[in-house]
Amino acid sequence: MDIRLYTSDFEQLQTPLLVVPVFSDDRKWPDGLTFLEPDIFPPLNELFARENFEAKLNGKRYVHTRHPGFPLIVLVGAGKINEWDLEKARQWWGTTVGIARELELNRFSIYWDDTFPTPIDFSLFLPEMIAALHTAEYRVKDLLTEQKEMPPDILEIFLLFPGTKDNLETLIHTGAHLGTSINLARRLAEYPSNLMTPGKFIEQVKSLGSRFSWRLEILDGNEMESRGLQALLAVAAGSEHPPYLAIARYEHPDARKTVALVGKGVTFDTGGISLKPSKNMEEMKYDMAGAAAVLGALQAISLSKLPVNVLAVMPLVENMPSGKATRPGDVVRSYSGKTIEIINTDAEGRLILADALSYVEKNYQPDAIVDLATLTGAAVVALGHISAAVLTSNSELLDHLEEASTISGERIWRLPLWDDYKELMKSKIADIRNIATKPEAGTITGAIFLKNFVKDTPWAHLDIAGTAYNMPEKSYRPGGATGFG
Ligand code: BES
Ligand code: MN
Ligand code: ZN
Repeated sequence: MDIRLYTSDFEQLQTPLLVVPVFSDDRKWPDGLTFLEPDIFPPLNELFARENFEAKLNGKRYVHTRHPGFPLIVLVGAGKINEWDLEKARQWWGTTVGIARELELNRFSIYWDDTFPTPIDFSLFLPEMIAALHTAEYRVKDLLTEQKEMPPDILEIFLLFPGTKDNLETLIHTGAHLGTSINLARRLAEYPSNLMTPGKFIEQVKSLGSRFSWRLEILDGNEMESRGLQALLAVAAGSEHPPYLAIARYEHPDARKTVALVGKGVTFDTGGISLKPSKNMEEMKYDMAGAAAVLGALQAISLSKLPVNVLAVMPLVENMPSGKATRPGDVVRSYSGKTIEIINTDAEGRLILADALSYVEKNYQPDAIVDLATLTGAAVVALGHISAAVLTSNSELLDHLEEASTISGERIWRLPLWDDYKELMKSKIADIRNIATKPEAGTITGAIFLKNFVKDTPWAHLDIAGTAYNMPEKSYRPGGATGFG
């Protein structure tokens, strides 16, 4: 989908649909569109003064015009100006795509100008809105044979933005980088596990790697064996699909810091010998959403050429029961040297992350590590499908994450990482057990486990079990995988 910017001479354009925002307490026709006024009937003063278009958020009023270039205008309510916030703005922009879809149009136009308030700095606001257009438009539908029933893809959006504001093109590009990369993460996560095996995921990493000239380190099973990543290998043992540990490296000459993003990549989680119940088990195709998010992030960072060094670290495995699978009670030596008693083979995410975290810390010495993982059902119990849990001992890193969360609208909420919880993870036979001795505080004990595998690098863990998929649907966020993170 292309977004084209026009800043003047709108009267020359041809567009089947133009969407215009109207605030309910300031209902007016924008100055940049005065040339259309004579062609609108009933006249605008009647429309705004007498008719009952209240301009509630996402309320719509269809207006047909006599102007040959602009046959249809839809006024879309934005609610009250001082109640306007980032979430409402995102919904407003997403709604424009919904209108075009309803009308089965593959192109349309949006009017915006700098008299409309922006809840955050405009240079952050516009990319977020453009990303919302991209995520609103994209659907994973390449596995459908019959696509006739579906509205056509939207190929082109004209953004009519009068004036001479700086950098609009750049901000639109940044938004497209974000939106298309979120969509990449959504597609990878949405794909079913027979088509998105560890090997298939690696193909994606390799093809993006050559497109963006990332340096890649990809360990296969044999290499992990010789380097001692036994925790990761223990999870893969039951599967016919070989595991990988992929590290993709983006570098910028002006970078001062290196950040490692580590994503849980369980392409399907049956639970292993500690088999899950069959109800809703199909949702476990999303158990690689963390890996999908870090790969999407690396793509967005590369497209926007951000001045930072970033590592995307993706341990990729399938968790299956079989005659070769790891048993409850088995003890393995992790890459860190610590031994782990695997009490429950369904607590597999922390095992692959343990090795991924200590491997990247030891071999790459990043300045900070953030991991994203669909780690615990307990995170869904605690926060539902509204917010991810964040666990960290580093307040500076937390500040950065909260700032990013505010801008992206992806909510995070802190849970503690106090040492008081450590007791629950003690094993009688090994250095640590992979599940707590009691079922309570599952998200915290999962993070406490991970903490044992990061020595002294600032580190934060995001449990995205509730936000990786099935979040409440919004105009800018259709159902299924969300690309959260
Ligand atoms: N992938 C699951 C967590 C999960 C559950 C994600 C529901 C999304 C929705 C994870 O591997 C898992 O099975 N965790 C166990 C841990 C337990 C055995 C300590 C869980 O949450 O039950
Ligand atoms: Mn599991
Ligand atoms: Zn899992």
